Amino acid sequence: MHLSSNRASIFTATAVTAMAALSASSTPAYARGPAPDPAVKDFQRLVDAAYAKYKDLKEGKNADYIPILTETPSDLFGVVIVSKDGKVYAAGDVDYAFSIQSVSKPFTAALVMTQQGPAALKEKIGVEPTGMAFNSKLALAIYENSVNPLVNAGAIAAVSLVQATSEQDRWDKVLQNLSDFAGRPLTVLEKVYESEYSNSAGNRGIANLLFNWKRLYSEPEEALRVYTRQCSVGVSARDLGLMGATLANGGVNPLTKKQVMHARDVPELLAVMATAGFYDESGDWMYTAALPAKTGVGGGIVAVVPGRFAIAAFSPRLNEAGNSIRSLNAIRDIAGELGVGVFGANPE
Ligand code: DON
Repeated sequence: MHLSSNRASIFTATAVTAMAALSASSTPAYARGPAPDPAVKDFQRLVDAAYAKYKDLKEGKNADYIPILTETPSDLFGVVIVSKDGKVYAAGDVDYAFSIQSVSKPFTAALVMTQQGPAALKEKIGVEPTGMAFNSKLALAIYENSVNPLVNAGAIAAVSLVQATSEQDRWDKVLQNLSDFAGRPLTVLEKVYESEYSNSAGNRGIANLLFNWKRLYSEPEEALRVYTRQCSVGVSARDLGLMGATLANGGVNPLTKKQVMHARDVPELLAVMATAGFYDESGDWMYTAALPAKTGVGGGIVAVVPGRFAIAAFSPRLNEAGNSIRSLNAIRDIAGELGVGVFGANPE
């Protein structure tokens, strides 16, 4: 009796599966569209859980070497996953505009790749991780011929390498490119710019050293101004998620459908993010989260699950390396739960 009722249910299930297969196969493949990402069903639960777990974590402190960053309310926190088709799963303060800071760097590196090809990025700037702080002058001396575009020296060089006819044109191209990645027009937080530019003796020194070594491709002060403006662009965690989703989507912004960078250049860019996106914590990050990512002293982080989705977060309190503590924990947890590290999931 027991056996036969089991059989009956198996037959029923088989029949249903067969009917489903039949009806799916009657729709041509091109009309069915891509299968949804199997992880999507967990996205909202995971952003909610990461937000709840870390919202009361008070470790670290706001960046203060750019004085105005001390004024960002330290308790803000937002976590977001953006799928490669642009769907947003959000928890917390995901629409608060903060300065993008170093999270801008891979996107301007992408612009250099688009204009001049990936070889130019490697040869004229470099792609070696320094294993040192983002503003290290020592790293610049050691890696004179190859600082990567995600530390300050390489990022200032990247801005100087953008092909432009004037400083205004250089800035317009940098801002347009960041906006294209976000899928909306971004603007500068002018008070952040004033605060950083009037405290940029260190970056000015870096720009002048690069110029001296013929590793800067515009006037140093022009590169410094455009770089500082780039770091002062206002973004939300949602924007960072969309910028990351554009990388996950082969360089096509999921909202505007604009091809912002060549799909063929995305893997090289992600490689640089994987090796240098967390500065002198990049090894720890790849060991524990295993996703290409970029952080900024404004408190933002974006991580990319290649070909699938992006995870972004914002919270102003930073650790010693200048990386947002709540954000990195939230993203690492989500990546771990989903088993989406680029080297594969840990076996159970
Ligand atoms: O140049 C600077 O120091 C800042 N505009 C950017 C540094 C930064 O975001 C480092 N990231 N964690």
